[in-house]
Amino acid sequence: MTDTLTDSYHRTIDYLRISVTDRCNLQCSYCVPSTPFAHMKHTDILSYEELLRLVRVGISLGIRKVRLTGGEPFARKGIIQFIRDLAALEGLEDLAVTTNGTLIADKIIELKEAGLSRINISLDSLHPEKFAQITGKDLFHEVKRSIDGALEAGLSPVKINTVLLDGINGDEVENFARLTFDNPIHVRFIEYMPIGQGEGPAHSDLLAPAIIKRLEAIGPLVPIIRSAHDGPSQRFKFEGAQGEIGLISPMSNHFCATCNRLRLTADGHLRPCLLSDAKVSLMEALRGNPDDEALTALFRHAVSIKGQRHDLSGHAVQDMMCSIGG
Ligand code: 5AD
Repeated sequence: MTDTLTDSYHRTIDYLRISVTDRCNLQCSYCVPSTPFAHMKHTDILSYEELLRLVRVGISLGIRKVRLTGGEPFARKGIIQFIRDLAALEGLEDLAVTTNGTLIADKIIELKEAGLSRINISLDSLHPEKFAQITGKDLFHEVKRSIDGALEAGLSPVKINTVLLDGINGDEVENFARLTFDNPIHVRFIEYMPIGQGEGPAHSDLLAPAIIKRLEAIGPLVPIIRSAHDGPSQRFKFEGAQGEIGLISPMSNHFCATCNRLRLTADGHLRPCLLSDAKVSLMEALRGNPDDEALTALFRHAVSIKGQRHDLSGHAVQDMMCSIGG
């Protein structure tokens, strides 16, 4: 029997983002703290069996879309088999991954065959040296190879996530946007959010309204109507372009009214909002209890405490972005 998860503000929650690991092979300055921090304990990380059980419970409650995030999801062993197992679950309509693209250049076909619907690749610079400066690793060409491979394999659409960072990549907006003329990719500009202890700009003039003006200087922008499973991005296309541009603007224009998400951390907590530290532990119900009733109740509880909107004005989220998964 299928139910629905509806929160106190009449939003239907049908999208679960799962962080499968808090580990990443990159150290992006704005995401990973520069000071040492503790990773999750191995014994606290949910096994793939546990994750599958939770997704089944989610599906029985109306979850239809799952996205795997990290850390870096492909830094976890066995992830492709997990994708295969998820793709086989009845009731799941959409399965996607957000990855830094550094570990999958030779695995694109395998991923497609495993049942992955589509892929988002994070890329904050088109200059190999700047990429290395932001991420701490000289792996730009690996990411490029993954993007090209995904396009070739028709893992469609291939989305590129670019976080706008003052003084670092703000001058690359036009170059990223122009990629959409000849490639069927979606370039999504994301406003930097002050989360955890990553080192980002205190404030930014790289907010969506200014970016739209800069894009309009390149050519007329045609708005694209939202479709099912659409995220919070405002979508546009240049006339005649093969690809699209999206603007994700949590700072300048919060999209909480249409939020349909719940997040699951690698150590078994449901987070109703990325920009709030509220969370609900599933561990006891998961490990101490063979039937799913308690888990169902905890899913419902997490949805019931989902706030009406986030508040980032002057209050930073304490948990780390690198362990929540964006
Ligand atoms: N603000 C905005 N986006 C961020 N991401 C990571 N940290 C931040 C931040 N502080 C992005 C990553 C990735 C996605 C999962 O979240 O670049 O594309």
